[in-house]
Amino acid sequence: MTPTQDQPHSTPLEATPLEGWVAVVLAAGRGTRMRSALPKVLHPVAGRPMVDLVLDTLAEAGCADVVVVTANAGDEVPRAVEARARVAIQDAPLGTGHAALAARAAAGEASRVLIVNADLPLLRAETVRALIEGHDASDATLTFLTAHVWDPTGYGRVVREGGRVRAIVEQSDADAETAAYNEVNVGLYAASAGWLWPTLEALTPGPRGERYLTDIVARAIEAGLRVETHTTEDPSEAQQVNTRVELARAEITMRDRVHLHWMTEGVTLIDPATTYIDVTVELAEDTTILPGVHLSGRTRVGRGTRIGPNAIVRDMVIGADCEVGASTLEGSTLGDRVSVGPYCHVRPGSTIESDAHLGNYAEVKASRIGAHTAVGHFSYIGDADIGARVNIGAGTITANFDGVTKHRTTVGDDAFIGSDSLLIAPVEVGARARTAGGSVVTRDVDADTTVIGVPARPHPAEHDDTSQKEDGPPSRA
Ligand code: UD1
Ligand code: CA
Repeated sequence: MTPTQDQPHSTPLEATPLEGWVAVVLAAGRGTRMRSALPKVLHPVAGRPMVDLVLDTLAEAGCADVVVVTANAGDEVPRAVEARARVAIQDAPLGTGHAALAARAAAGEASRVLIVNADLPLLRAETVRALIEGHDASDATLTFLTAHVWDPTGYGRVVREGGRVRAIVEQSDADAETAAYNEVNVGLYAASAGWLWPTLEALTPGPRGERYLTDIVARAIEAGLRVETHTTEDPSEAQQVNTRVELARAEITMRDRVHLHWMTEGVTLIDPATTYIDVTVELAEDTTILPGVHLSGRTRVGRGTRIGPNAIVRDMVIGADCEVGASTLEGSTLGDRVSVGPYCHVRPGSTIESDAHLGNYAEVKASRIGAHTAVGHFSYIGDADIGARVNIGAGTITANFDGVTKHRTTVGDDAFIGSDSLLIAPVEVGARARTAGGSVVTRDVDADTTVIGVPARPHPAEHDDTSQKEDGPPSRA
């Protein structure tokens, strides 16, 4: 399935909130075909759990009132969704019809009910909205979404007579002729509540003890009620996820949509096939993403920044006109015009201020690196506050851990830390102070002072007062 080329993944829809509707998300299935300890609907697609993608879609379509049906109170799914929806518990996985009925009490008095399967990560808000509006505009009791797919395997087939819908026939119940139909049930339904709830109650279990939600179509037809369909022109929306194979297909399609969206927004992707951008990421115009880049989580990238090749960027806020070479950056902030890498690791809790430079093999953790500061080569800067315009020489290390606790290092503005300096925290190096190459700094260094040696002591050329002589001459032993 290919996405339509004119629909980016996330142009927010200006939907007016729906009145009199409740949405029910079916998320209580066992997902056995995934063969996973993680509930199926929590598997991410382009970085976001499927059930969250469906909830995003409903919110964008204007569904403010949402009930998620989940397996049981101890499940991870209720915890994942409870901030955004009411939770109803289906106590045993007795089928989609049984699951929908489990939402009845939580659904309250809404006159119309939208039901959606939680394993439809590619469903679009526009489509949900069109189905709802079509339902409201007709006098149908039930409206459901269909798609024409190349391979209908695994879907309920839409059976028509003279163009009118007769039934949805599940794969397991389909004879050869029906199985060949390629119009399928996507898993999105709109129904009038007064008819739906008693109809769900009256559903009888099939041979495997499951009550099929899809049987409500035949029930409505038998009762002489009107059933309408809405057909999406983009069959990728029907991509459900029952297996890991389908999960990978959904991932590919979602990634395509995300790429299309950002290219439309003015982002250059040198090689979309090797670029991985989560749905949660935001990019400004004129950013360039080189091959082999993974942008994930709450990452934001400013205008004119170049990233890659081969960078892993997670939960980062990156300013404008930065250059990020092959590196791993996590949970931190880069100002503007920062250059990083290649081969840096910026770990969570760091702030790299504007015009700073992190060169080859620098690791920074929970630290501030001031503006115009350079950490050129092979350094570990952890739990440190480094001022502006500081030069951190090659191989500088903040020894922040004494085996029990972490300690902080502070370096003032315009300081010069010589190559291979070891700053034993807690320690403070004052503004404009200098450490000679190879210094092991065990005590605070005053501003405007040069220290040298192991342990580092004020440089004799600068400090010839007798009080310093008690410690003996600096040595580089
Ligand atoms: C369902 C439809 C099928 C449709 C397909 C496409 C039925 C009977 N069949 O099949 O016509 O083509 O989706 O999306 O509905 N769930 C529960 N409780 C249960 C069982 C399932 O909450 O007891 C939830 C699942 O978590 C899932 C959704 O309902 O999110 C659909 O269930 P799933 O098992 O995926 O149904 P399919 O066999 O794919
Ligand atoms: Ca499914």
